[in-house]
Amino acid sequence: MSKTAIIVGASSGIGAALAEELAVRGYRLGLMARREDKLKEVAEGISRRHGVIVLTHPVDVCASADVQPAIMALAEDLGQVDLLIANAGIIAARRSGNGQLEVDRQVIETNLLGAIATIDAGVALFKTQGKGHIVGISSISAFVGIPGSAAYSASKAALTNYLSALRTEVGHQGIRITTIHPGFVATDLAPGMEKYPFVAQPGAVAKEICQAVERGAREAIVPRWPWAAMMPMMRFLPDAVIRRIF
Ligand SMILES: NC(=O)c1ccc[n+]([C@@H]2O[C@H](COP(=O)([O-])OP(=O)(O)OC[C@H]3O[C@@H](n4cnc5c(N)ncnc54)[C@H](OP(=O)(O)O)[C@@H]3O)[C@@H](O)[C@H]2O)c1
Repeated sequence: MSKTAIIVGASSGIGAALAEELAVRGYRLGLMARREDKLKEVAEGISRRHGVIVLTHPVDVCASADVQPAIMALAEDLGQVDLLIANAGIIAARRSGNGQLEVDRQVIETNLLGAIATIDAGVALFKTQGKGHIVGISSISAFVGIPGSAAYSASKAALTNYLSALRTEVGHQGIRITTIHPGFVATDLAPGMEKYPFVAQPGAVAKEICQAVERGAREAIVPRWPWAAMMPMMRFLPDAVIRRIF
């Protein structure tokens, strides 16, 4: 029987590419995000190209009380859910000292509290099912903070730590947790993403994420080359070099 995945943050970029890649692998899909028109466009294209069932449901992960009911409603329409991917995220550039804390608040609310609301709903669902697999999309900035995006880096470091604690808490209850740390990917996340070093295409990254999920990895850096090799060294690089890289 084919597997089923819910992707939160599936209207563009890595989430839309993951939907496509999972459809290639025969998954039935539930896609969620705020922009319903974009979600429907992604869903119709995938269902036409791959002949799989693709349902959509709008959600704003910052409206935390709405997240669990929305995921449960979609899960009920889909039947048993095997995989929940918490991918929704935003980035914002803000130089420290300008007092625009509202920008940071929005980033933390989406990337950390929104992800926690999504993952918490996933745990509730998978506890009732007795099994399931949660994938959190963090970032390499969880390991090395990006200058100019300190709040973003902090949100991802906290998400990585949250997922690590959760793995220990629920791992023995049939709930698998995978944390993904993408390097730079050419998406709409921020203007000029394609100019960042070693930038990868969303399709290639989605393929590596699916491979990590299928082998049940606890964590994965994607694309593996060159980031997995570089990451252990990054923390020893001088600040001036880090500034140049980012
Ligand atoms: N691109 C990179 O270089 C990179 C690197 C490391 C990690 N990541 C992470 O990868 C994930 C996907 O980003 P992306 O690069 O693919 O960017 P993207 O194309 O902008 O995709 C972001 C997705 O998150 C959704 N989203 C944002 N805020 C939301 C909210 N409040 N409620 C529900 N959905 C929301 C967006 O949908 P709506 O706007 O329709 O709601 C969209 O589907 C993010 O978590 C990002 O931090 C990206």
